Amino acid sequence: MALSAKSAAARSAAAPRGAASRARTVRVAALSTEKSNPYMEELRATANYIATRGKGILASDESNATTGKRLATVGVDNTEDNRRAWRELLYTAPGLGQYISGAIMFDETLFQSTAGGVQFVDVLKKQGILPGIKVDTGLEVIPGTDGETSTQGLDGLGERCARYYKQGARFAKWRAVLKVGSSTTAILENAHGLARYAQIAQANGLVPIVEPEVTLGPGTYTIEENAYWSEKINSHVMRLLNEYGVVLDAILLKPNMCLPGLDAPTASPADVAKYTVRTMLRSIPPAVPGIHFLSGGMSEEESTLNLQALQEACPNSPWSLTFSYGRALQSSTLKTWAGKKENADKAQDILVQLARANSQAQLGKYKGPHPVPGGGRILQALRTGGPGK
Ligand code: 13P
Repeated sequence: MALSAKSAAARSAAAPRGAASRARTVRVAALSTEKSNPYMEELRATANYIATRGKGILASDESNATTGKRLATVGVDNTEDNRRAWRELLYTAPGLGQYISGAIMFDETLFQSTAGGVQFVDVLKKQGILPGIKVDTGLEVIPGTDGETSTQGLDGLGERCARYYKQGARFAKWRAVLKVGSSTTAILENAHGLARYAQIAQANGLVPIVEPEVTLGPGTYTIEENAYWSEKINSHVMRLLNEYGVVLDAILLKPNMCLPGLDAPTASPADVAKYTVRTMLRSIPPAVPGIHFLSGGMSEEESTLNLQALQEACPNSPWSLTFSYGRALQSSTLKTWAGKKENADKAQDILVQLARANSQAQLGKYKGPHPVPGGGRILQALRTGGPGK
C-alpha cells in the first residue's frame, strides 16, 4: 500500500532525528569510557613507549606446557626451576633493552625472580623493558565448525588484569587464531573476544596487544589470498574495537605478515612487504601506534629480511612497523643454551644479536650478515593450539 505524502514526509523527517539521537548516545558512551578511564594517559604513554622506533617486543609468554615442549627439544626437563632459569637467561641478557621495549610473560613467569632473588619485573624495568602478560587462557573448538577455535579467558579477566597491573605488568596479550578461509562464525566470535578483552585490559591499566593471527598453514594458497583474509579479519576486529569504545591510540596490534601457504613457493621479501603493507593501510587506522608482527614460523633470517622490506615499502608509515617475535628470537638462543650454565653467555649474545638485527630492520637499516643465516622455517611444536596454547 502506498504511503500518503503526509505520512511519508513525517517518517523521513523522523528517521534522521532517531538516527541522530542514537548516534549521539553511542558517541557519548565511547567518550565517557575514554574520559572516565583513570589510566588513559598512562595507557597512551605505555603504547607509545613500546612502539618506539628501533625497538620491538620479545614474546616469551609460552604456557608451561608449550615451554616444556621447547625445553624438551634441547633435553631439558619441564620443571618450574628450569622454566625460570630459561626466562632468567632471556631477561638478563646484557644490552637487550637497547632493542627491546616490552617482554610478554606467562602468569607463572610474571611472579618469578632470578636465582639471586631479583623479581623478573624489576630486571626488565632496569633494562628499560616493560613487562607484559598473556591473559587469554587458550583455545576451544567452536561447535559446528571444522576445528576452528575461540580464544578463552574473559571470565574473571578484570580481576586478573588488576592483579597483573599490581605486579608491574603494563600491557597484555590475547591471541585469536584464524586462517585463510576462516568461517564468518570464527571471525565474528574472535573479533568479539578481542574487543571485549581490549576493553577490559584498558579499564585496568594494561595496553592490550590485539592479536588476530592468520596462521601460516598447509596448502598452496597464494599471498594474495592471505592478504584478502588478513584484511577482512583485521577490518572486522577494528570495527568491533570501535563499537566497544576501545581507544585505538592505546592499543598495539600483533598481526601476521602476509605469506603464501606452506606448500606454495616462498614469497620474496618485496612481495611479502607489498601485500602486508597494503593490508595494513587498508585495515588499520593510523591512530594505532605500533604494528608488532609475530614471526609465526618464519625463519630467523626471513623474519628480519621481511621486516626490513616492510620499511622500504612504507617508509613514512603512520605506525611503527615492528616485531613481537617469539620463535625468531628464541629458537637459536635456546639451542645455544641447551640448559648448560657454561653456554649462557653465548646464548645471551645470540639473543641480543637477533634483537639488534630486527631493531636495525625496523629502522630500515638492516644490511646483514644475519646472526643466524639461512635457517629453515621454525614449525616444530613450539606453539600449539589447545588449552594454554
Ligand atoms: P611467534 O613469533 O613464535 O609466532 O610468537 C609470537 C607470539 O607470541 C604469538 O602469540
